Amino acid sequence: MNQKIMFVIASVLLIWIVSCSNGSSDFARVLSPDKGISVEFILQNGIPYYAILRQGGTIISNSKLGFQFKDAAPLDRNFKIVKTKINRVDQNWTQPWGEVKNIRNHYNELLVSLCETTALPRRMNIVFRVYNDGVGFRYEIPEQDKLQDMQITDELTEFNFTADHDCWWIGAYQWNRYEFLFNKTKISEIDTVHTPFTIKTTDGLYLSVHEAALTDYSSMALARYEGTKLTCDLYPWSDGTKVKTSTPMLTPWRTIQIAENPGKLITSNLILNLNEPCKLDDTSWIKPQKYVGIWWEMHLDKSSWGSGEKHGATTANTKKYIDFAAKYGFDGVLVEGWNTGWDGDWVKDGHLFNFTRNHPDFDIEYLSQYAADNNVRIIGHHETGAAVMNYEAQMEDAFRFCNKYGINTVKTGYVGHGQTIKRIDENGDVQNEWHHGQYMVRHYRKVVETAAKYHIMLDVHEPIKDTGIRRTWPNMMTREGARGMEYNAWSPDGGNPPDYMTILPFTRLLSGPMDFTPGIVDLFFEEYKPNNRINTTLAKMLAYYVIVYSPLHMAADFPENYEEQKGAFQFICDVPVDWEETKVLNAEIGEYLTIVRKDRNSDDWYLGSVTDENPRILTVKLDFLQPNLIYVAEIYADAEDAEWEDNPLAMTITKKLVKQNTTLDLCLVPGGGQAIRIHRVAGD
Ligand code: NOJ
Repeated sequence: MNQKIMFVIASVLLIWIVSCSNGSSDFARVLSPDKGISVEFILQNGIPYYAILRQGGTIISNSKLGFQFKDAAPLDRNFKIVKTKINRVDQNWTQPWGEVKNIRNHYNELLVSLCETTALPRRMNIVFRVYNDGVGFRYEIPEQDKLQDMQITDELTEFNFTADHDCWWIGAYQWNRYEFLFNKTKISEIDTVHTPFTIKTTDGLYLSVHEAALTDYSSMALARYEGTKLTCDLYPWSDGTKVKTSTPMLTPWRTIQIAENPGKLITSNLILNLNEPCKLDDTSWIKPQKYVGIWWEMHLDKSSWGSGEKHGATTANTKKYIDFAAKYGFDGVLVEGWNTGWDGDWVKDGHLFNFTRNHPDFDIEYLSQYAADNNVRIIGHHETGAAVMNYEAQMEDAFRFCNKYGINTVKTGYVGHGQTIKRIDENGDVQNEWHHGQYMVRHYRKVVETAAKYHIMLDVHEPIKDTGIRRTWPNMMTREGARGMEYNAWSPDGGNPPDYMTILPFTRLLSGPMDFTPGIVDLFFEEYKPNNRINTTLAKMLAYYVIVYSPLHMAADFPENYEEQKGAFQFICDVPVDWEETKVLNAEIGEYLTIVRKDRNSDDWYLGSVTDENPRILTVKLDFLQPNLIYVAEIYADAEDAEWEDNPLAMTITKKLVKQNTTLDLCLVPGGGQAIRIHRVAGD
């Protein structure tokens, strides 16, 4: 694959191990390549702990490590260090698509091999990777006679924060999975939360706790058990077990990103770096894309997923979207409600979904040919209603069906209560599993691998959180996993508030791409939903295409609305979805954010800037531009009298010649934003 290893040096002996004279405490330490961050491993009276320091200050103080099992003694005490080893790694690798093209994987690794001092000793390794921008660590339980099949009832990893910092979070173990507004509190006020869990320390550092490479394990929430001490809280199976596994076993990486400003959380590649390299020999069939589709109309109740007079996925309606996509250069047309199973209560009766049977008024033979003739592809839709066994039984046929009709991208969906995934167990009894437990982690992974076999790209709604597996399986393009645009169409709480897009990039979006489905230009849609609306200005809506990274971005509004808003629509047509470089120009969580990204296929840059309810002028230097080039900045700005509540559509579109030494003042109105295309016009 595209991976170019510059060098990998394994050096043993660089480690500093201090054995205290009384023999009760062992200690090992590893520093980040720039020596700013250090991780300490401490064995105190046989009990393993770790701590993380940055420039002398303690970020995480002594925190326990280990496991509890159902039918075996805990693996968290009576240890001795058998061996330690340091590796220094500095590699570059290239993403087939992404928010940056080239990534440096530069870390120092400490491996600590432990063995119990008991009569029947068991072995466990802990691996720490220390980057300049954070730390990842995981457990390895090697193959051994004394430990084979394991039922983990608790992973004991602690995160002991040293002060009562501010933090942003959503609650774990909730019915609506990850789809909540974010809370900002002190650490001491949380109960059990999902990751990414974002922190601003009392010293002004920014941290994010998450995990990488969640492959066959249960997902980690964080539970507070005392003061500012958090512990890993694994989503259980229906029988209470957290993880069913056997040796040799690797856990996901526990990750702590550390940054001196919030923008550096966004540009960190720590999570991706901790994932395995790409497993596909050929990625040429995987392409970022923009799409339109039959989607927003169902959320506005203009049409229905189910059959009948209001059915949205008809041949004529799909043809209209294909024509529109072809006219404006969109790659895909998503069609929801194309198959049988939607009639009745589809959330309850997901087992009725059929993924190879189209509604009679959706002529798949004709439409797939029509799409191909127009150089457009239909994007398939597999809403499962969280009936996972029904989906798994049909999955191979469903992807074969896609191959037959030229469908190379599928949006999947798992609408259902967070804990009611039905699983028939070994005894034929029905069990209810969490969306975020090991059963579903395995399912989501199986879908990605099967889709890859059929050269299908995936957009997963109601997903497992992203832990960077797109590095290994780059057909795993994007996912939902937060409140997207649709909440503005029907949420009784009034939709996503104006500060939402100043928090999302520092929380959910740190984990990976999101199919937010932006681009609604008719912000009021009074004809369909008079009590709902979108709480941004039009210019801010355009900025979402840059702020939210996704290799699949939707232009979610109706074709007729775009024909009426041609000015704003031009930006949506121009903005790319595959980037060479990404920079954060300014940021404060919950207040404002400006991101610039360079197109992978031209010299053009795109800027997106958003604010909360407060107006601001953000001054930005264009010093990221190439020195000898001249560019035209096409500026989509809030009009002077615009603001999100009463005058959100007022927007100006102006052009200005800019160069590397240009400074721009971005004037953002309350709830506003700005989008700029910086298009190269001269120079070499
Ligand atoms: C919820 C998804 O987020 C949305 O995009 C989709 O339209 C519906 N489920 C129906 O599948």
